[in-house]
Amino acid sequence: MTRSPLLRALAGEALDTPPIWLMRQAGRYLPEYRAIRAKAGGFVDLCLSPELAAEVTLQPIRRYGFDAAILFSDILMVPWGLGRSLRFDEGRGPILEPIVERSEIPVFDPDSFHAALAPVYETVSRVRAGLGPETALIGFAGAPWTVASYMVEGGSSRDFATLKLWAYRDPEGFGVLMDTLVDATVGYLDRQIQAGAQVVKLFDSWAGAAPEVLFERGVVRPTAAIVQRLAALHPTIPVIGFARGAGAQTRAYGSATGVTALALDSGIPLAMACALQAERPVQGNLDPMALVAGGDALAMEVDRILEALAGGPFIFNLGHGIVPQTPPEHVAALVARVRG
Ligand code: CP3
Repeated sequence: MTRSPLLRALAGEALDTPPIWLMRQAGRYLPEYRAIRAKAGGFVDLCLSPELAAEVTLQPIRRYGFDAAILFSDILMVPWGLGRSLRFDEGRGPILEPIVERSEIPVFDPDSFHAALAPVYETVSRVRAGLGPETALIGFAGAPWTVASYMVEGGSSRDFATLKLWAYRDPEGFGVLMDTLVDATVGYLDRQIQAGAQVVKLFDSWAGAAPEVLFERGVVRPTAAIVQRLAALHPTIPVIGFARGAGAQTRAYGSATGVTALALDSGIPLAMACALQAERPVQGNLDPMALVAGGDALAMEVDRILEALAGGPFIFNLGHGIVPQTPPEHVAALVARVRG
């Protein structure tokens, strides 16, 4: 059996045409997504409806022929599976009941957790059944630091004051929260892999908010534990690590966690991306706004990235999620240019 281009790149191969997929490739920029979203009721309901979630996962594959599908779900389904309340309000983003003290840290009970998230695992197997062998299926979870930020702050945050103060003032309690999220994340990804995910990605969207010592305690250590435990369960499944905003700490993040590949945000200069690529495959890092702009600006950025990175193991992607105002035809132009 020949492996899909995504799996080949993750195994260290430099392909003539790099595989391409986009973060948030299923989403509000697509009219067919908005139609299903309107029919599903709430966003959490959509994540828990295997038929609809599988359909929106497959929509961008049908439209653009991306090399990978990513499970349609959300990083906040882990707190939800741990029994925390979760809702998404129009224009406000996610809202959770914040954890304010150590006694409120949920206990990871695998039975109730997996029972609650069974619809997600069913989505994974439905999607896998709907894909050809050339298209890889990516499962994912939020990394503990980023998921904890939403659990502790009660939603999105500007300065992560509550999370950081907790980590500084009560290192032991913070450690309990990290350990709980490591256990839940390993269990969650293990089930996704059993259901048909061939690659997993850890989204640490707020890694850049952690200064050196907290980066070690909140980002590197929990991620390394997840990578190690997953490798023991599934030695051949690649892990893509996305420590967004990690900048100068990105290289240490790669070597200390043992992730298979690094997803790079748009702030990583291409010279640095090349140096990182000497150690492991890289993915990224087109600015989502260049995709909104389209035209010559988009073409120039795409060519610059290809010139720097396509000679090594590389996966074309954005540096962060596609934004809702992106014209769908710009995505088609991007795919055509990368496949040139
Ligand atoms: O990439 C994909 O196509 C797969 C699906 C996916 C979603 N969220 C769907 C989603 C993935 C991989 C995520 C990850 C996620 N969720 C992250 C990490 C990546 C990143 O963007 O940094 C984070 C931080 C979240 C938390 C989250 N989910 C926020 C802050 C929001 C609100 C902001 C927004 O864009 O509306 C969400 C909602 C969300 N998750 C939407 C989608 C398509 C939009 C909700 C809607 O359709 O109403």
